[in-house]
Amino acid sequence: MIQHKLLMAIIGIYRRIVLAIVTFVVTVLVASKSLFGRERMSHENGILLRGKLKIVENPQFPEHNFFRAGMEFDCRVRHAAASFKDDAKLVVRSASIKFSDNRRKSPLDILMNSGDMPLFWNARTFVGFMWVSILGKGKHYTPYLRKHGQAAVGGGISVRRDPVSPNKMVYNTKTVSGFIGLDEVYRYARYRLVPVPFDGQESGAPDEWDKTHAWLQNPYPDEPRHRNYLKDATREQLKSDGPLHYNLQIQLRLPPPDDTIQPEWLSSAVPWDQSAFPFVDVARVELNEALSYKESQLTWFHMGNHPPSLPMPRARSIDDPHSLIHLRLASIWARRARLVSYRIFSMPAAFSDSRKAKDWIAIPPVKDPP
Ligand code: HEM
Repeated sequence: MIQHKLLMAIIGIYRRIVLAIVTFVVTVLVASKSLFGRERMSHENGILLRGKLKIVENPQFPEHNFFRAGMEFDCRVRHAAASFKDDAKLVVRSASIKFSDNRRKSPLDILMNSGDMPLFWNARTFVGFMWVSILGKGKHYTPYLRKHGQAAVGGGISVRRDPVSPNKMVYNTKTVSGFIGLDEVYRYARYRLVPVPFDGQESGAPDEWDKTHAWLQNPYPDEPRHRNYLKDATREQLKSDGPLHYNLQIQLRLPPPDDTIQPEWLSSAVPWDQSAFPFVDVARVELNEALSYKESQLTWFHMGNHPPSLPMPRARSIDDPHSLIHLRLASIWARRARLVSYRIFSMPAAFSDSRKAKDWIAIPPVKDPP
């Protein structure tokens, strides 16, 4: 019995060391990309908006010292495309909220992507995904998708093509974080951002072909929309229709009763049953101003910005779903590297509308779909 316990302890330490090494190597790689590429590791193409958010007057979640009824915050929201510098590509879209009108400092940042299932769900799968992304996706992407059927499903669910507005899509945190109410009970939480009004139909939702071919990300050959069409449309919408509105919602559940068990639902690859764990409103968001390209580049969102009552759970191995949190927290170095790169090499200019420009990347035809 003692020998078994000792063996388990050694295995536990070994797994944590592997996680620390993987976190270090991934951080060095993504920070180098941001430093020498002068860009975000992902989500480089985006638009930054400013406005206000107000915690709901009658919260349907346990009392909480940060999400206090009726509290108001200035806020920034950045809508972006997760990859490629072209609004008309078939890509995952995002919404990141900062609970302050600052470039970096904030009591809480929440980063969300479209769809409710990601393309990776722990450090091990992220490394595989990162590797094919470094190689340029396209034909390199398909072996990864073939190996991880779940990633192909997640990609298919999460990509959006030619949405008319960022205010017509739903965004999810996917990963699980902590929520400690005034009752001192530790719960797990997931957030989503839903446009108001919303009729249940997301703009840009993939058709059957795109859903099952999410690696064919090029715009349609006769695509009339230019590379910056969505950001331009967002500015136009603010001018002609006024502010964009959203509801920030939360889904809560208790952790597994036995700490040694790592249930499947801890993984971001497994959305929670909404009838058992309904989303309830946390805050109403109103965005009324689009900020400049320069301000968008100088702003970062970081999941390390959170109060102690909304903690980030820690992992025990690279297969633990929370291992993504280790990578994401350490990626603060990529954010720092990106801002340092602007000082050393200057900030890159915003990319042009044209697909004939040198920085436009076409994905070559892929012969071997999964
Ligand atoms: C399901 C998991 C993840 C989600 C939902 C997510 C979401 C996001 C979003 C929405 C952004 C854009 C922020 C902006 O607009 O400025 C972003 C950027 C970024 N993410 Fe993630 N992410 C995930 C996993 C990861 C992982 C595992 C890493 C590990 C290295 C990572 C590193 C980064 C970096 C370096 C940036 C660019 C930050 C900057 O330079 O400002 N993310 N992520």
